[in-house]
Amino acid sequence: MALLELKNVSRHFGGVRAVDGLDLAIEPGQIFGLIGPNGSGKSTTVNLISGLFPLTAGSIVFQNEDLAKLPTHLRLQTGIARTFQNIRLFGQLTVWQNLWVAQNSPADRAKRGFFARWLGGQSGVREEISQLLEFSGLAHKQDELAANLAFGEQRRLELARALATRPTLIMLDEPAAGMNTEEIGQLRERILKIRTQGTTVLLVEHVMELVMGVTDRIAVLNFGQKIAEGTPAEIQADVAVRKAYLGGDA
Ligand SMILES: Nc1ncnc2c1ncn2[C@@H]1O[C@H](COP(=O)(O)OP(=O)(O)OP(=O)(O)O)[C@@H](O)[C@H]1O
Ligand SMILES: [Mg+2]
Repeated sequence: MALLELKNVSRHFGGVRAVDGLDLAIEPGQIFGLIGPNGSGKSTTVNLISGLFPLTAGSIVFQNEDLAKLPTHLRLQTGIARTFQNIRLFGQLTVWQNLWVAQNSPADRAKRGFFARWLGGQSGVREEISQLLEFSGLAHKQDELAANLAFGEQRRLELARALATRPTLIMLDEPAAGMNTEEIGQLRERILKIRTQGTTVLLVEHVMELVMGVTDRIAVLNFGQKIAEGTPAEIQADVAVRKAYLGGDA
């Protein structure tokens, strides 16, 4: 059964059909790509799944639970984490503190339960933060203010912070934007590792070498509608997709 299923999901902003009748099913353990030209509705889809604003129509079911029926504060506890197209960190907290705050989110506390927390104690939290710092190559920066990090480091911290909530599903909105080839290669390795550790990934991305190289399956949006879905090879060969990206009869 799908981990996440969108059925006929729409979100309109005035006359703009940002997302328009979208069906999407993501299986557990998949790295699922969501691509499409600028303004095609990718970020809106991520925002709808994370509950930033309500649906105009349709339903979103995650682990058998209808997300639309959950109030926003409970949605945080469902096991969905995300990063943003524009980085959002606590700039005046250190790298370590950014991760600590995420680890101690209500969602995390609810998941661990009282006895697990009591037995695990603070050392368990510290150990996990150390592992996340190692994973993101930020161990040497743990006492820096997030605002003082270089751009690439901020992106890595945002990813680590999302992982600190131990999500079942993580959604990454253009994580490779502004990165050089070497950084994209490292990001690829990290995404594969995240999946190995049991987290399903929804990847929104314009950098095709990353999407095509790392995903199992891809859906393509254009004007809020899905115009294609398939394996990376199928998508690369799809005529409608080429047209959407290049215009005309490409
Ligand atoms: N909060 C909002 N209010 C009004 N219109 C919005 C809002 N969010 C998105 N839109 C509009 O919805 C459409 C889809 O935008 P969205 O940000 O989802 O696209 P995208 O596929 O993420 O694009 P990009 O690749 O440029 O990030 C656009 O026309 C956008 O202007
Ligand atoms: Mg976007």
